[in-house]
Amino acid sequence: MAVRNILKMGNPKLFEKSSPITDFDTPELYTVIQDLKDTMQHYKGVGLAAPQIGCQQRIVLFGFDSNPCYPDEKPVPLTVLINPTITPLTDATNEAWEGCLSIPGLRALISRVSSIRYAGFSPTGDPIEREVHGFHARVVQHEYDHIEGVLFPQKITNFQKFGFEDELKDVMAMSK
Ligand code: NI
Repeated sequence: MAVRNILKMGNPKLFEKSSPITDFDTPELYTVIQDLKDTMQHYKGVGLAAPQIGCQQRIVLFGFDSNPCYPDEKPVPLTVLINPTITPLTDATNEAWEGCLSIPGLRALISRVSSIRYAGFSPTGDPIEREVHGFHARVVQHEYDHIEGVLFPQKITNFQKFGFEDELKDVMAMSK
């Protein structure tokens, strides 16, 4: 088990597309997954993607029971999702504040599709498919972006709703 260094925005690796996993149920895969879990837990994130710890592979981890950064959100089951795909189930979008462990201290108001179906594989290669909405859908879209080499600032439409958490407190409270 190991808490890994998280790559921060500015590191060119975060803007690369990650490669699919071809071999499941291998010791190498379980090592990356354990490191992702240890690192996400250590930094109290709700999601983490393999490229954030320097592995350019299509593996994302997400889930939480409760999180101080997102106190109003319902729990999301802890999930390792490999080679994920996302299908929007609606044209409807919603806006909410997002942060990222690769961009510590900053938040932005980001628009995401409200309902999605996501699919992929577990570490043993078993298929996973779920239809989700709201915050669960948002977290999966955010993590999926990481394996495509996209960070949330690339999705900002209103730069007045982007900044440092401590400065944004009042703005965030108003837009709840
Ligand atoms: Ni992130």
